Amino acid sequence: MNGFIFDLDGVIVDTAKYHYLAWKNLANSIDIEFTELQNEELKGVSRVKSLEKILAWGNKTISETEFEALMKKKNEEYLNYISTMTSSEILPGVQAFLETIKEANKPIALGSASKNARYILDRVELRPYFDAIVDGNDVSTAKPNPEVFIKAAQTINCQAKECVVFEDSVSGIQAANTAQMYAVGIGEQHILFEAQIVFNDFKSMPSNFITELIKK
Ligand code: BG6
Ligand code: MG
Repeated sequence: MNGFIFDLDGVIVDTAKYHYLAWKNLANSIDIEFTELQNEELKGVSRVKSLEKILAWGNKTISETEFEALMKKKNEEYLNYISTMTSSEILPGVQAFLETIKEANKPIALGSASKNARYILDRVELRPYFDAIVDGNDVSTAKPNPEVFIKAAQTINCQAKECVVFEDSVSGIQAANTAQMYAVGIGEQHILFEAQIVFNDFKSMPSNFITELIKK
C-alpha cells in the first residue's frame, strides 16, 4: 500500500462519543427519541445529513432557519466538549501506528466528514503527521459517497487501489469500497462486516499487520 488514509472521529480520536451526546441532547430537546443504534447510522455522515436523518426519524418538518439554528446548537455543544481535548484522547495505538508509516516514508492523509477536523488534529497535536487533510470543508458529497477518499488519494498522488482506509463507520467503509480502496474497520465486526478486515482498535492489530500492509 502506498497511501494511508484515516478517518478522524472514532478512529484517531474518541470524539464519536461527543457527537453522540450532542445529537442525543439535540434530538431530545425537540422531542425525538435517539438510540445508540440510530447513532451508528450517523457515524461518518455530515452534519446536514445527520440532522435530516434525525428529523425524518421523528417525522418532523422544520423551516430552513430552524434547521440552521439546530445545526449551530449541536455544533456549539460539540465544540464545548472538544475544547478541552488533549492528546490523552488519541485512541490506543494510533500514534505508534502513524510513526511506523512515517518511518516507512509513506504518505498519510485525513479523509473526514468533519468541518472541525483541523481544530481537533491541532488540539491532540497530530497535525504534523498528515501530508494532506481533506475534510467536510473540501467536499460536496457525504460518505458513503467516496469523494472525500478520492480527493485524499489525489492529494497524496496515490492510485485508489494502492490506498488503505481506516474507518469506524459503515458509511465510510462503503465509501472506501466504492473507491476500490482497502478498507480496514476500527470497531465491531458485526457492524463493520463490509470491511476487508476489522480490529477493535490499533492496539489489537497483530504486530506484523502494519509491516505486511506497507509491503502489500
Ligand atoms: C464525522 C462524524 O466524522 O463528521 C459524524 O463521524 C459527524 O458524526 C461528521 O456528524 C461531521 O462533523 P462536524 O464536526 O463537521 O459536525
Ligand atoms: Mg468516524
